[in-house]
Amino acid sequence: MSEGQSKRRVGIVGYGHLGQYLVRRLQDNGLQHGLELAFVWNRDANKLKGTVPVELQLGKLTDFLERRVDIIIEVAHPCIAQAHGESFLKAADFMVGSPTALADLETELKLREAARQSGHTLYIPSGALWGGQDIQRMDDGGMLQALTVTMVKHPNSFRLGGHLGELAQGAQQKRTVLYDGPVRRLCPLAPNNVNTMAAACMAAPSLGFDGVKGCLIADPDLPDYHVVETEATGPGGFSVRTRRKNPAACGAVTGAATFTAFWSSLLVCQGHGGRVYLC
Ligand SMILES: NC(=O)c1ccc[n+]([C@@H]2O[C@H](COP(=O)([O-])OP(=O)(O)OC[C@H]3O[C@@H](n4cnc5c(N)ncnc54)[C@H](O)[C@@H]3O)[C@@H](O)[C@H]2O)c1
Repeated sequence: MSEGQSKRRVGIVGYGHLGQYLVRRLQDNGLQHGLELAFVWNRDANKLKGTVPVELQLGKLTDFLERRVDIIIEVAHPCIAQAHGESFLKAADFMVGSPTALADLETELKLREAARQSGHTLYIPSGALWGGQDIQRMDDGGMLQALTVTMVKHPNSFRLGGHLGELAQGAQQKRTVLYDGPVRRLCPLAPNNVNTMAAACMAAPSLGFDGVKGCLIADPDLPDYHVVETEATGPGGFSVRTRRKNPAACGAVTGAATFTAFWSSLLVCQGHGGRVYLC
């Protein structure tokens, strides 16, 4: 970027694996992409001490306006978009790193409306979804009749409670289907595991969280990668299938390629007006 051009100021909400990665990339390479770190917030502020410069630490999330940000990125928990997404969008573009938050219909409608009214963009990172823009184009053209997203991981790579957690633990010997049905019901059961499915639902609003089908499978024969398959069908026998293998450390919920995918998504966020945009 040339001197004198204004930089886009970025706020990071959450300082776990993804938050730390994004903060480091912004500090190392941000300026060459016209990006400047404006604040980092974490629920446990102690985690920021010694790693994030004091002037970049944000004590109270509701004070984010003081930092005059152009874009806020949530990489913490779905509850952040539900509680703060609307106020973020009134002031800035917002990338929701935990799009399972949008399976709550009230949250989805509230954030779509906030984007429309403010002219700021609600960005959805594609994550492990391959062909998201194509799905979005098919949907825009009224051609998308059905969409299924299947995610397969080693049983130890799921962070699940309740019935699904028990099923996953019981799948140490045998490939087991944990869930097969509408993505809407799956998101609250597996909020950290199915962000890719939620991104597909946002790319395909004509089907949405009730119409897109999600299938979650635990497979003990996949110790070091995650698989995401999509199948989109349209009129006259049209269909597309994709299969993505993402290397992941044994037991990791987040695959290695997801980190760089998030950075690439952030680079797309240049302001696309008051709408939802898959990045
Ligand atoms: N879109 C995608 O494809 C994708 C991929 C991976 C992870 N994610 C999501 O991004 C988020 C961050 O992932 P990560 O791997 O960095 O997780 P992580 O567990 O390493 O970090 C999460 C951070 O958020 C904080 N946090 C946890 N619960 C919170 C709450 N209720 N309120 C506020 N802060 C809270 C934790 O203190 C931690 O600092 C998760 O919600 C995860 O599901 C999305």
